[in-house]
Formats: sequence, C-alpha cells, structure tokens
Amino acid sequence: MSGRIVVAGATGYVGRHVVEALDLRGYRVRALVRSRDRAEAMGAFGAPSLRGHVAEWRIVDYTDSSTLMDTCEGADRVVSALGVTRQNASPWDIDFLGNLRLLEDAERHGAASFLYVNVLHAESGTSVTMRSKHAFSETLRRSRVAAQIVNPSGYFSDVTDFLLMARRGFGFTLGDGAAKINPIHGADLAEFIVEHLGEPSMSWDVGGPDILSYRELEELAFRVAARRQRILRIRPAILRPLQWAADRSSPRLSNLTRFFLESLKVDAVGTPTGERRIEPFLRAVH
Ligand SMILES: NC(=O)c1ccc[n+]([C@@H]2O[C@H](COP(=O)([O-])OP(=O)(O)OC[C@H]3O[C@@H](n4cnc5c(N)ncnc54)[C@H](OP(=O)(O)O)[C@@H]3O)[C@@H](O)[C@H]2O)c1
Repeated sequence: MSGRIVVAGATGYVGRHVVEALDLRGYRVRALVRSRDRAEAMGAFGAPSLRGHVAEWRIVDYTDSSTLMDTCEGADRVVSALGVTRQNASPWDIDFLGNLRLLEDAERHGAASFLYVNVLHAESGTSVTMRSKHAFSETLRRSRVAAQIVNPSGYFSDVTDFLLMARRGFGFTLGDGAAKINPIHGADLAEFIVEHLGEPSMSWDVGGPDILSYRELEELAFRVAARRQRILRIRPAILRPLQWAADRSSPRLSNLTRFFLESLKVDAVGTPTGERRIEPFLRAVH
C-alpha cells in the first residue's frame, strides 16, 4: 500500500516511531509538528529523529486555531498519536478538542481512515485524561471516515520511571502490586499501526510480549539498577486522602494522581505484539 499519510503527534515517543515505520514502508508522510528543529533532533527514550523521514512539514499547535486549517488536504489517511503526557496542557484541549479539530479536517478533505492511538481502559477511567480520550474515541466511532482505534497498554518510555526511582533506591506498589501490564516498545506499536492502516473501522487492545505485575516490574527495575530492593507498599486506604489532597492542589496534579492511581489498580494487558523485550530496553537506558 502507498499514499499520503498525515501524522499528528509526530514528535512524540510513538509518533516518531510511526513516522519512521511509514517512511520505511514507502508512504509519503506529512508530519504535523510544533517545531521542526526539535523533530529533527533525536527523541527521548531512543525514539528516532524525523530527519529524512518526512516528505511534508506542517507547523501546528492545537492551542492555536490559526494553524489547524487544511492539515489533511490531499491526504489519504490520518494517524494521530497526539495527546498530553508530560506537557503542561489540558488533556481536554488536546486529547479531545485537538483530535476533534483534526478529525473534522480529515472528514472535510475526504480521508479514508483515521487511526487514533487511545489507551486501554479509557472507558472506565475518571481522570480528565481518560475522559478526554474516551470522548474522542466515541466521537471517532461516529465519524464518516473509517475509525481505527488502538488501545495500548503502557509504553517502554513510561516504564523508565520505575528504573529512575530504583536508581534512587526507592520503589512502590499499590497494595501487593498484583495488577498486570504488558508494556510495548514504540517501534513494535508503530509496526502494528502501519500493518493495520488499510483495515475497516475496528479497535484493538495491544501490548508487548512481557506480561508483568507491577511488583515484578519494580523487582526488574531494582535488578537492572543493581540496587538493594526497597519497595514501599501503599495501602489502598490512603488513596482517598491522597486524591483529596491532590484535588485541592492543582488541576494538573489532580489529573495525574487520579490517572496513575487508577492505572495501578487494574490489569492493563493487550494482545501481546512484537518482539522487543522490556529488560534489554531498560538495561540500555542511560
Ligand atoms: N505513555 C504511555 O505509556 C501511553 C500508554 C497508552 C497510551 N498512550 C497515549 O499514546 C499517545 C502518544 O503517547 P506518547 O507517549 O508518544 O506521548 P508524547 O511523547 O508526549 O507525544 C505526544 C505528542 O502530542 C504532541 N502535542 C501535545 N500537545 C500539543 C499541542 N498543543 N500542539 C501540537 N502537538 C501537541 C506532542 O508534541 P510536542 O513534542 O511538541 O510536545 C507530541 O508530538 C498519547 O495520546 C498517550 O495518551 C500513552
């Protein structure tokens, strides 16, 4: 398959891998970025530079409506890995409204499909992040374009936080840390996305090849860090006061606390996909 693909969130961990994978398969990529200089530098967590992988650049900021017109003009398909993770912005403005503006543009210009990188369990989360992502997925399902929704477990990029804590000699689990997760490498997720681009409306739950409990993830992080294991067990009883305090602090802290505490409670396991294993990735993190 070939064609012109618009990629939103192209400078992110997943977006960079998606752009590279599309280019290597012969697609013509239009990357929507806030900064071309930043896009052409190496990404965080080993994600590639976009230099040489992009046919057309568009400078787009989803908080500035003057930059959003006609980003999908002439495009065959759209892939969006746009979202707020570490950025200081409202998830509602970006994950929901930003993606909505992009979808409206895709519909206006007759794109055949819109693939959205969502997250597992968005439908049951109560954080603004989860509500925004779920609201957009539901909107996308009702769209005129083919709606492809990918629900990943965590990413390798985020698991590095466990390693950073272990290097400082500290880790924690919620209760006994029995909830399970199968984090996926950005390149494996990108390959999955590119392989499924031509399919009709559908959604997929996707994770990596290693299924681990949070407790096992902590133990792995300490092994890789070569530090003596000190894992604090957070008692579920303190979650409510913790959230109460965060809710009175700032909207950002309130949202992040809710997002992380809810994530630690439930299994987030998607269909195991790809070959890349978590331990060698963590060992290579500097
Ligand atoms: N991290 C995880 O473990 C995980 C798990 C499941 C699902 N997800 C979801 O997967 C998606 C991609 O995650 P990721 O880790 O690759 O995120 P990321 O590295 O933070 O990338 C997010 C992308 O969105 C862009 N963006 C944010 N605000 C923007 C704005 N105002 N205007 C234009 N672009 C903006 C970022 O641009 P800049 O580079 O300019 O900031 C970046 O390209 C997100 O929607 C995330 O919620 C993440």
